[in-house]
Amino acid sequence: MKLPRQRIIEDFEKMVGRHDDPAIYGGPDGDPGLIGPDSVSWRVHADLAAVTQAGTAAIVLEVLHPSVIAGVQDMSTYREDPFKRARATLGYVLATTFGNTAAATRIIEHVKHIHSFVNGTRPDGVPYRALDPDLIAWVHTAIPWMILRTYERTNRPLSTAEKDAYLAEQAVIGKMGGADWVPTNTAELDEYVATMRPKLAVNSQTREFIDFLLSAPFGPSLPPAADAALHRFALYAGMSAAPKWARELIGFDRPSPLIRAMIRPYLYFDARMLRWAFGTPRYVEMARARASGAQQLKAAG
Ligand code: HEM
Repeated sequence: MKLPRQRIIEDFEKMVGRHDDPAIYGGPDGDPGLIGPDSVSWRVHADLAAVTQAGTAAIVLEVLHPSVIAGVQDMSTYREDPFKRARATLGYVLATTFGNTAAATRIIEHVKHIHSFVNGTRPDGVPYRALDPDLIAWVHTAIPWMILRTYERTNRPLSTAEKDAYLAEQAVIGKMGGADWVPTNTAELDEYVATMRPKLAVNSQTREFIDFLLSAPFGPSLPPAADAALHRFALYAGMSAAPKWARELIGFDRPSPLIRAMIRPYLYFDARMLRWAFGTPRYVEMARARASGAQQLKAAG
């Protein structure tokens, strides 16, 4: 029989992947990667619970841009493999933060190459291309923004200086990914989000995506009513990191009193359980050993 801890790890990794590839997180001794071990990013992204709990809100915010949802609906395979995008995005976030310099750069270039094929026309006739620097900036921003909010909720509050440092570190990745400009501090983030809000909307493509989130198979098979309730709860809980206006846009701003009462304890429990099960995640241990040169010492010893 499997120990509960092993079970939690296996179930979780089935959905979001393992993220311990030595070709990415190992590498040349002394290599700090793109961001470096003393960064706020290394501290925040070491919390696998915060990074994964941010996923739903980040993805929904991204697709509130009509050009992003058009690209996703035209080109993405999310319907065939619902967790592929979550795995790929998590892999991207972890590899660009903790991966060795060459691997992180290679992954960014690979994703840019894939994006070079994501072009088309929105249902309202506006052309889009994923490599449009403004679209890259929006998708990039949604990720660190939601990770910050999630981390502060279930881990600890961060000072403004820490948040500014984190956004500036992540901006390096955003620019390498093809953005001309991304917010590098909290003041810029607030201003940028305010300028983006009028460009965001829910259209039939967004609705289709939300409907998919409300039906995608992600847990045990349940009777239809219980399954629907679980999906709604997951969306409410996932979107609780997002600002109120975003929840209002998708119509998930009025949870029932029962759901409202359950969200916070659920997120705390889920985060504590993941932290207990994973301890220091492998990608962190491997990156720390690489950056400090301890890989060589281990091999020599
Ligand atoms: C910094 C911004 C972005 C990041 C970090 C990002 C991340 C990723 C990653 C990691 C993949 C998977 C690559 C693989 O399969 O190996 C991917 C694929 C894809 N991205 Fe992006 N993306 C960004 C911006 C965009 C934008 C602006 C659009 C749409 C306009 C877009 C649409 C897509 C589509 C359609 C795919 C194809 C794969 C799929 O979802 O099935 N992405 N992206």
